[in-house]
Amino acid sequence: MCNCTWFMVALVLLQAVTTLLAVAPEECPTNVPENERRDCHSDPGSTEESCWERDCTWCESNDVNVPWCFYNTDPAPYGDCPTYQHPKDRVDCHPDSGSTQPSCESRGCLWCETAYEGAPWCFYSEGVAPEPIMEGYRVDCLMDQAGGESLCRERGCYYDSSNRDGVPWCYFPPDDRGYRIVGEVQDMYFGHRIDLRRDHDYTLFGGDVDEIRIDIEMQTDERLHVKIYDPNNIRFEVPHQMPRNNNKASNPLYQIQYSNDPIFTLNVTRTDNGRMIWDTSIGGLVYEDQYLQLATKLGSEEIYGFGEHEHHSFRHDIGFRTHGMYSRDQPPVENGNLYGVYPYYMSIEEDFNAHGVLLLNSNAQDVTLQPGPAITYRTIGGVLDYWIFLGPTPENVAEQLSEAVGRTFMPPYWSMGFQLSRYGYNHIDVVKETVNRVLAYDIPLDVQFGDIDYMDRYMDFTYDKVNYAGLPEYVNELKTEEGIHYIIILDPCIANSEPAGTYPPYDEGSRLGVWVNDTNGIPVVGKVWPPEGVVFPDYTNPTCNEWWVKQCLDFKEVINYDGLWIDMNEPASFVTGSLDGCDYNKWNNPPYHPNIFGNVLADKTLCPDFVHFAGKHYDIHSLYGLSEGPPSLAAARAATGKRSIVISRSTYPGSSQHVGHWLGDNYSQWNNMHFSIIGMLEMNLFGMPYVGADICGFINDAQYEMCLRWHQLGAFYPFSRNHNGLGYREQDPGAWDDSFGYNVRDILYVRYTLIPYLYTLFHQSHTKGSTVVRPLMHEFITDRETHTTDRQFLWGASLMISPVLDQGATSVRAYFPDDRWYDYYTGNEVSERGSYVTLNAPSDYIPLHVRGGYIMPTQEPARSTVYSRVLPLGVIVALDDNDSAAGKIFWDDGDSIDTYENGEFFTADFSASSGELQGVITHDGYRGVDSLVWGTVRVLGVATSVTSVSVNGAAHYDYSYNEQTQELVINNMDANMNVNLNVSWS
Ligand code: NOJ
Repeated sequence: MCNCTWFMVALVLLQAVTTLLAVAPEECPTNVPENERRDCHSDPGSTEESCWERDCTWCESNDVNVPWCFYNTDPAPYGDCPTYQHPKDRVDCHPDSGSTQPSCESRGCLWCETAYEGAPWCFYSEGVAPEPIMEGYRVDCLMDQAGGESLCRERGCYYDSSNRDGVPWCYFPPDDRGYRIVGEVQDMYFGHRIDLRRDHDYTLFGGDVDEIRIDIEMQTDERLHVKIYDPNNIRFEVPHQMPRNNNKASNPLYQIQYSNDPIFTLNVTRTDNGRMIWDTSIGGLVYEDQYLQLATKLGSEEIYGFGEHEHHSFRHDIGFRTHGMYSRDQPPVENGNLYGVYPYYMSIEEDFNAHGVLLLNSNAQDVTLQPGPAITYRTIGGVLDYWIFLGPTPENVAEQLSEAVGRTFMPPYWSMGFQLSRYGYNHIDVVKETVNRVLAYDIPLDVQFGDIDYMDRYMDFTYDKVNYAGLPEYVNELKTEEGIHYIIILDPCIANSEPAGTYPPYDEGSRLGVWVNDTNGIPVVGKVWPPEGVVFPDYTNPTCNEWWVKQCLDFKEVINYDGLWIDMNEPASFVTGSLDGCDYNKWNNPPYHPNIFGNVLADKTLCPDFVHFAGKHYDIHSLYGLSEGPPSLAAARAATGKRSIVISRSTYPGSSQHVGHWLGDNYSQWNNMHFSIIGMLEMNLFGMPYVGADICGFINDAQYEMCLRWHQLGAFYPFSRNHNGLGYREQDPGAWDDSFGYNVRDILYVRYTLIPYLYTLFHQSHTKGSTVVRPLMHEFITDRETHTTDRQFLWGASLMISPVLDQGATSVRAYFPDDRWYDYYTGNEVSERGSYVTLNAPSDYIPLHVRGGYIMPTQEPARSTVYSRVLPLGVIVALDDNDSAAGKIFWDDGDSIDTYENGEFFTADFSASSGELQGVITHDGYRGVDSLVWGTVRVLGVATSVTSVSVNGAAHYDYSYNEQTQELVINNMDANMNVNLNVSWS
């Protein structure tokens, strides 16, 4: 509190003096009584002149509380405005259409209707847009080099300093630099077509495209396609089979408006609330041969996605952060361009709707996220091909993206299990020792990997007959005696220096001409793992794909593998471009180098001017991994005759139709556990749900505590694999001590118990595009606290995982969104909702919670899914506030191809209420269920004591009820899975 006495005295004196000095008022030119005058000049310096300049009325008064400068229209132009700001001084806060009072107020602006011509009804209260926001919209005009005012002016851009970090000083003029519409906007069967012509003479890098065309395809009510291209020249386009439409969406969730004054701008809003999704009025549209740029305002600051990067928060920092995208063999570092490319973001709007935007472009590119909020896209080739998904829920957005680029493959059941790998076992005996010590702790193990050290001199389709003597037999033994599958690594590069006739993969490939060539048609030679040079298969060539499938089939005769791990497919090379380097030309040395690693595009990879069947490496580079996926899955399936699986390092939207992904060469560091959650959440947004990070880290020695915590977290990665780099200390779960080994067994037993639920989630992802690992905000979107949660995650809607991620911690501060939650282990209900709770998490424990209202299928765990799949199943019923719950199960043989598509599956819907659980079979196409039974039911949240239970009409006595935890457990039900299930309790 201030001591204000002196101030009050001064004020009273001042008022008295002012009254004495006041000139007697002349007759006022107004009918507004003094007590109704609204101040038009509350800011200092009011004079009669400045007042009339505001179109207001000046009239002195004897009363110091009465304004002398006031609005004088009857009725007053401000109506019931919460401000006396003159309407003509208003600065529009909602230039986009669809402004309403709620949408205005949610922007922190004032809403006030006015008859004053041209005045906005939604405006900034201060009379100016807040400075940072205006600066946040600046589109950098010196994106390629440092430069001062003179270079900036030469480019026809504006130059203004700023004292805020990241704000460009040289920026595109928002409104007099771009394209203008030629003729009329054409109404087409798919939407609209607009032809544009360049409206200025400036150039950035040359090769300006003077005429461009925009096709706006209103594909469905939720999906909008905006393609900006050169109608006169064919440019590279990502060769995806994207959806097409034969007519316009009839009831779209989006509205599109164009303005041509003074330049062309495009504005996309949400139909029902008028909220802005996109608004290109901040300028900066550039269409040059090797530089395409588009900048747009965004309706919200909440941006998620873009990849593949290591991000340190799930929700983006939009303080002028630039993210480069160009696939690269790069151990994760913050914001560096990594293995895959995902030019895609999802945004949560102010009122909790969500939308997603994909730029279907594969060239080297970067995006800058700006605090406007705004985004600037820059790419050095292709076309500007945007796909906008209007949700409106985040799950809808994920579904709509995957519908457009292709739904994910259905993984085999065994790939839900725990997996073990390392680079550098270096000897089959070490593999055996490792597997044995893991199994000695009864740790479930479904897959053993073979990294490049199984090969003879790191050459694909060979094995080291000295150090890995007996590998073929051992692989079979693992399968038949331990229920363990075997996945082999394959690198794309093929050794080119073996004596002729001794290495068929190279000889056959050369004969068929399946390699990536230089501009003279000569296969390019790079350097990867094999001792000499390597050539690179061109998977965009159908002949190459046949060759690849044949090599995989031939090798299956040698090693009885079950799946493929395709690595180094960015494609990686240890030399720049090739053994002969790269020529100097426009492709290898484009004028704009996006914000990516390396001084040249060929850094750690091929020269951009190299030639593929489908085009230049310049365009294809980031699609190399994508193109290797289909032939690899085809090969794995042809070889095994089963569903099989392929794990790929480089991916692109659409890859997940064929492959899963791991997050690459992470570090054995605590913070990498946190980053792995963010990576997993992002991959789920991208439609790539089969994902995980190397448990315990790939680079550097793991430490005991970290590795234990990482196993606890990794037990909830969809792709749950411990993988280690060359030369680091052993980190498999059998390599530590008994307490470590048994703890990992216990937590993996929890995973295995829940695999039927996980598998059902994958089925939903495969058929509907749902996320598997799900951000909390997808389920609790109106709770803003969840929008930044990235240290916890969900499996589907109902299992919350809150791992320990910090060294020495024995508790977790976990957020519980407003719902009923139960401790997975004890069944105890969490007493708080919509708040943070500090949970005990001793070293052998990971907090898990089940959400009320859901039913999850389970199964008794075993050492491998081969053994667990035949054991009794069960369900966990977690009751909500109305004592009800619902859930589903999908079940099939887990191994055949396209079981869902062929109807060879079983599904049932569960529902529980009023003391009764029903399991109703909804599809009965898999006879494997005839030999399976429902064994256990756990019901969480049963408030009143249970004294009788019946299963399918018969009294059942094997149950227990715990009054304290309110958990009912019914055991040994032995109820056939092929009939509907009915369990009741009272
Ligand atoms: C790089 C991969 O990222 C890593 O997982 C693998 O172990 C090595 N290549 C060796 O194949």
